[in-house]
Amino acid sequence: MSLNVTKKIMLITCALPYANGPIHLGHMLEHIQADIWVRYQKMRGNQVFFICADDAHGTPIMLKAKKLKKKPEEIIKKINLEHKKDLMNFNIQYDNYYSTHSNENKKLLILIYKRLQNKNLIKKRSTLQFFDTKTNIFLPDRFIKGNCPKCKSKNQYGDNCEICGAIYNPVDLINPKSTISNSTPIIKKSKHLFFNLPYFQNMLYHWIHSGILQKEIINKTNEWIKHGLKEWNISRDAPYFGFKIPNTKNKYFYVWLDATIGYMGSFKNFCKKYNYISFNKFWKKNSKHKLYHFIGKDIIYFHTLFWPAILEASEFRKPTKIFVHGYLMVNGKKMSKSRGTFVTAKNYLKHLDSDCLRYYYASKLSSNIKDINFNLENFVEKINTDIVNKIINLAARNASFINKYFNGNLSKKISNPILYKIFTDSKKQIEEAFDKRELNQVIKKIISLTNIANHYINEQAPWKIKKQNKKNENLQNICSMGIYLFKILMTYLKPILPSLVKKTEIFLNTSLSWKDIKKPFVLNKIQPFKKLFQRISINEANKIFKK
Ligand code: MSP
Ligand code: ZN
Repeated sequence: MSLNVTKKIMLITCALPYANGPIHLGHMLEHIQADIWVRYQKMRGNQVFFICADDAHGTPIMLKAKKLKKKPEEIIKKINLEHKKDLMNFNIQYDNYYSTHSNENKKLLILIYKRLQNKNLIKKRSTLQFFDTKTNIFLPDRFIKGNCPKCKSKNQYGDNCEICGAIYNPVDLINPKSTISNSTPIIKKSKHLFFNLPYFQNMLYHWIHSGILQKEIINKTNEWIKHGLKEWNISRDAPYFGFKIPNTKNKYFYVWLDATIGYMGSFKNFCKKYNYISFNKFWKKNSKHKLYHFIGKDIIYFHTLFWPAILEASEFRKPTKIFVHGYLMVNGKKMSKSRGTFVTAKNYLKHLDSDCLRYYYASKLSSNIKDINFNLENFVEKINTDIVNKIINLAARNASFINKYFNGNLSKKISNPILYKIFTDSKKQIEEAFDKRELNQVIKKIISLTNIANHYINEQAPWKIKKQNKKNENLQNICSMGIYLFKILMTYLKPILPSLVKKTEIFLNTSLSWKDIKKPFVLNKIQPFKKLFQRISINEANKIFKK
């Protein structure tokens, strides 16, 4: 049998968090999901570049700066440091975490814009837009609220309805209000630049049906295409924090154009710094390398319509796959500051270990776009039952005998080869689940194996053997078997629990690798068993909700 080991080159991204607020547990759902997948792909031997950045432009950041009487540049710099720190503390292993407010991004944006212009894909049009006369700014969609023109639901934003999913023009909103000043905005004329999205209707239709998207996302995107695509306004009036549009007076590029290009900008910066790979080779049309975007369900059309069209138009490659996830809910509801359920990454880490959240999310994540619920009792119970009572217990109970009576030395015999084979043969099933991002299935399989291992130890009852003879070879064999099984489990868990696995590797005296799963005897001596993981209490966990 010939082994086909072709190393793939992958660029994997998360959506770029806005630079106007802290990283919270909702963001973390995405970063953790992607990071687990990245670590898994790396363990399988693929070459992965994991890239992100802050999305630094737009009206909210401008307004925030104004309120704090600071320059937006100052604010985004500070927030960038905070975001990086939070992500690092959750062991999110970015190869580059940059900002869209960069020279690389600006250059790429202008290059792309010029290519669109040369192809006659940019048109100037007169628009009617809401204007807040109290603050003298044109109102972005997110700063207008009113009733949906289609289903009439109240309190909907200016660009789309969260109830019926309609996408519309803000001026069609019924009973509009500015959320900045709470006044009724006036309609004002302004000239804007539009990208000819409808031109790509056909290309997009074929592209979305070529195995790029999850089923639900194909349907959603198809609906938008079926209703007819509209030209996309890529410009904004001053005052705006962003990149100026060449040859215009007071016009800026819309944040969502330079945000997606920000994926390239961050990668470009990475390529310059490390020289591992050629930027042009990766991004050229028909590139063989893989490009994966992890995003939330609220930003689908930017990634399934605008982004591929812009890339096609500017002669760059398009994404290989777009992975959409659902929203994080807390106790069944949207996170909310007023309910006290808005949890920042920083506050979480003050009280709990990063691996706990990684494990909990993994146990709930799959490849569909259903929302994920965070419930504190469920969270605490899952961590204590699965990690402490089952996984860690397997190591602890066997290590105590091996250390006490055999000086840490493991036996060179597999006492139950059939059981051992069940563990190694599960590799394929676990790989399939990881590949498909069915992380809940990964966890399910691992826990069922853990139960089998603990059951084996219960049956063999080493504590009984010990009573007969402390130096009994049988005692050493059985406890070693427990440790060998624990090693396999921890290897499968390595992408999910990096911090626990690091401690485990010290305890086992070896680095756990995917290719060594079938080799028990890379282990021969273990270290004294130190507590690897702390049980958590409801009281302590509950503190993440307090300010
Ligand atoms: N800046 C844009 C993305 C630009 S990508 C070129 C943005 N930023 S965001 O900070 O609002 O969100 C970043 C990512 O986090 C998005 O994928 C979004 O769906 C995700 N989430 C934000 N809140 C979330 C939850 N409560 N739950 C799950 N994901 C959430 O959108
Ligand atoms: Zn509606």
